[in-house]
Amino acid sequence: MTRFDFHARVQHGLLAVSLAVLILTGFPVKFAAQPWARAVVRLFGSFEGLLAVHLAAAAVLAFTALYYLSAVSLALARRRLDFSIVPRLRDFGDFGRHLGYLIGLRPDAPRFGKFTWWEKFEFWAVVWGTAVMGASGLVLVFPELAGRFVPRWAVGALRVAHSNEAVLAFLAVVFGHTFAVHFSPHVFPGSTVWLNGRATLSQLHEDHAMMYEVLVSRNAAPPRPMKESRWVRSRPLIVTELAAYGLLIAAVYVAVVPHLLGA
Ligand code: HEM
Repeated sequence: MTRFDFHARVQHGLLAVSLAVLILTGFPVKFAAQPWARAVVRLFGSFEGLLAVHLAAAAVLAFTALYYLSAVSLALARRRLDFSIVPRLRDFGDFGRHLGYLIGLRPDAPRFGKFTWWEKFEFWAVVWGTAVMGASGLVLVFPELAGRFVPRWAVGALRVAHSNEAVLAFLAVVFGHTFAVHFSPHVFPGSTVWLNGRATLSQLHEDHAMMYEVLVSRNAAPPRPMKESRWVRSRPLIVTELAAYGLLIAAVYVAVVPHLLGA
């Protein structure tokens, strides 16, 4: 079943590449005193080279945002815009019910529609994250000009926002998105939606049961329970992932938290 059309796949690819480059070229500025930061700067020849690549990736991100907005405007004009990504009250209930299921308080997971609560959360985090990084990035590029329109403290605040929102974006991608689309036992070793745009019927049955039922009612899918992925009950996978994520959390705590607290 198609979940990402061609344009969505291109937009996703551009977003992934630009975000990776922005993080790679932004973090050496934030953590300038670290030996690894100097090594990354050397990769780009000089600090100016690093910054030029950061700004080129920022231009790709801006292009991606415009590409997405044009596609949305076109769909709106053709009355084909699907509003299913907009959060509803039910998503908050789904979140609570899902947590209850994950900690064993409920026997069944909630049934989701086209987008789960975490997919909506991730989507809107990218929307506001891009707006914050874009606006604060422009203030960093044109500080004098920005100073004419906003007070000095606001310029300083936007600089801090740019720096810290970058860490939030990094953590959201490493812990949230990567888990949801690669390491979750439901999709392990990885969803291929970003490559071929298609979700398997069993993935649909697992995470988007309400959509699956619509397909069954239209006779477009087999009306029998799907076999769950063999990774869902794989103890070695679950133990390895818990250990790997535990180590990552410890590494982030040691590397980032003292820095954020200014220690
Ligand atoms: C998700 C997107 C982005 C990420 C993850 C990111 C990341 C970063 C980070 C970590 C820093 C270092 C901040 C510090 O001094 O502590 C930085 C600096 C900077 N960023 Fe970004 N950035 C992003 C988008 C942008 C955009 C869209 C622009 C331009 C419109 C931009 C322009 C700059 C500039 C000019 C600097 C200052 C470098 C300096 O201090 O000389 N960034 N970025």
